[in-house]
Amino acid sequence: MKVKTVKTLIDELIKTHVLPRDAFKTLLTGMTPDDRRYLTQKAQEVRRAVYGNDVYIRGLIEFTNYCKNDCLYCGIRRSNRNADRYRLTKEQILDCCRQGYALGFRTFVLQGGEDPFFDDEKIAAIVRAIKAEFPDCAVTLSIGEKSFESYQAFFKAGADRYLLRHETANSAHYQQLHPPQLSLENRMRCLRDLKSIGYQTGCGFMVGSPFQTTDTIIDDLLFLHDFQPEMVGIGPFIPHKNTPFRDRPAGTLQMTLTLLSIIRLILPRVLLPATTALGTIDPTGREQGILAGANVVMPNLSPQNVRSKYLLYNDKICTGDEAAESLSHLKQQMEGIGYRIVESRGDFKKGSNEVCMTSIQ
Ligand code: 5AD
Repeated sequence: MKVKTVKTLIDELIKTHVLPRDAFKTLLTGMTPDDRRYLTQKAQEVRRAVYGNDVYIRGLIEFTNYCKNDCLYCGIRRSNRNADRYRLTKEQILDCCRQGYALGFRTFVLQGGEDPFFDDEKIAAIVRAIKAEFPDCAVTLSIGEKSFESYQAFFKAGADRYLLRHETANSAHYQQLHPPQLSLENRMRCLRDLKSIGYQTGCGFMVGSPFQTTDTIIDDLLFLHDFQPEMVGIGPFIPHKNTPFRDRPAGTLQMTLTLLSIIRLILPRVLLPATTALGTIDPTGREQGILAGANVVMPNLSPQNVRSKYLLYNDKICTGDEAAESLSHLKQQMEGIGYRIVESRGDFKKGSNEVCMTSIQ
């Protein structure tokens, strides 16, 4: 049998949105620089067919860095005694939204550790207050694993979207990254619950996390195809000095960009951010992410004085370009590469995954 070239596999992925395991393996390990250029170009074409040159922005509000979990990779893990813990009040969160709204943000992402202080009623009250003051905005929650009932209560309060990275779709790998109390099974239960309740649901994983292999990445890609999330967050793993993974190498820019492009071809309509972690490992990381097929950026709206405390990993960017105040700089950067930041909720565009394909072939 004739061995398929990498370009043929990329064309196949554009048409069918999935590949057999061994073909994914070839894509992930056997690409020449020329193949990479081809992949990037195709991912960009698909992204443009669905979202044009629009880049959606999300105002990220990191409202608590208390966490009851002890994930081995994460800088705000419970056993990091050096973390300087903080919580924002509802009023402080609303102030962040007010500033963000004036800047043009129409989605607010409330992200935090799993902090029992914020019980369901408190979260629901915050969501309701944001939706009452900003009815034209979307609220995204990123607050971890909860019960079906809790997710339902937040949805009733008005939350539109929920981000919960699956971290890895391989259960043995999941156990290597997490304490024994956490399981891939419950993570998946949460993701299914979120989707069935009606959230635009986001999953995702770190690129280059300890013990990750080509095979676990293929598990992730097959899971994405199977689950059909509306959003996918991926970014390089970056070690944090107060975690057991302090001496592990960071994920690479190239692998992250390759995966962004592959994910764009698996899920043509997905909301795909060029993440803060990508901007942290390379000063032009976020632009390169957009050029690889991403269509979302998430500047930080948290108050200046807490930004340096929400440290999931070393050297997280928390001044300059990451600050929402320099949104105009971000706008210039995006215009410089042929894209434009738009002032809209930036919802998932429903429709067939085939519709745009004819326009790019
Ligand atoms: N490097 C990169 N990303 C990390 N996250 C947590 N710790 C790190 C790290 N050290 C990611 C996880 C989590 C998201 C909020 O941040 O994937 O889901």
